[in-house]
Amino acid sequence: MKETLENQFKHVAIIMDGNGRWAEARSHARVWGHIRGSRIVSEIVEEADDLGVESLTLYAFSTENWSRPLLEVKTLFLLLKKFIKKEKKRIIANDIRFKVMGDISPLPDETKSLIYELETLTKNAKGLKLNFAFGYGGRDEIIKSVNCFIKKNPGKELTKEDLAENLLIPEIKDVDLLIRTGGDMRVSNFLLWQIAYAELYFTKTKWPEFKRSEFRQIILETNDRERRFGSVEKTDSLNENEMRADENLRLMSSSKTEWRGN
Ligand code: IPE
Ligand code: IPE
Ligand code: MG
Repeated sequence: MKETLENQFKHVAIIMDGNGRWAEARSHARVWGHIRGSRIVSEIVEEADDLGVESLTLYAFSTENWSRPLLEVKTLFLLLKKFIKKEKKRIIANDIRFKVMGDISPLPDETKSLIYELETLTKNAKGLKLNFAFGYGGRDEIIKSVNCFIKKNPGKELTKEDLAENLLIPEIKDVDLLIRTGGDMRVSNFLLWQIAYAELYFTKTKWPEFKRSEFRQIILETNDRERRFGSVEKTDSLNENEMRADENLRLMSSSKTEWRGN
């Protein structure tokens, strides 16, 4: 059920990590962790929608993950296909706009057709923007954007706005909150351009054990973080601060004179 939570995080991105370790700790093969992990996705999507998140971007397979054993890679392909088949109706019924970002050319034709079909069916949806980063790398995305711009505008200098406009899904804008499960504290080539000012949250919970309750808790806990974007805290006594700044500048320049004199 949708709520009226004043959620400042409009774009939430999740690095769904820890599947392999979760399975290995239970003496199972890594792929078992992926299978169990894939079951969690729907409830997190539902919760994001309930919490008033506008865009949810899930990291499912990175450009670096191509170096994993073939069985693991194929299992991940299969799980993406299963997810789409299983959730198609619900995605449409909930007015969710579904997109995949990344290079999916090596995926089986059937999976690619399912992706294109669901993307087309939901392209005008007005609800949650659900993005799957699959075969995705942040560096690749930036390079692609730059090349795309150069091709369209030969000889013109690229601006920040141009780069943002040529990203894979330009309309999803910057990430407000980046969550990584699994205990590691790194970004692993995820949305490098879009996370410039993202709030970061790392949880030790491995992805197959992540629950909607923890997701909700993270949003509630981080929702009142003050995001300053390089500026300073808002204050009523601006004049007083300005006076203090002037005084500091004066002191700095007088101490410089002293140093020069030494
Ligand atoms: C995340 O889980 C899923 C993918 C990277 C595809 P991992 O498979 O990386 O699991 P750990 O980090 O090795 O436990
Ligand atoms: C990041 O996890 C990619 C996904 C979750 C899809 P990895 O497990 O591949 O990242 P590293 O190798 O630990 O940095
Ligand atoms: Mg991992």
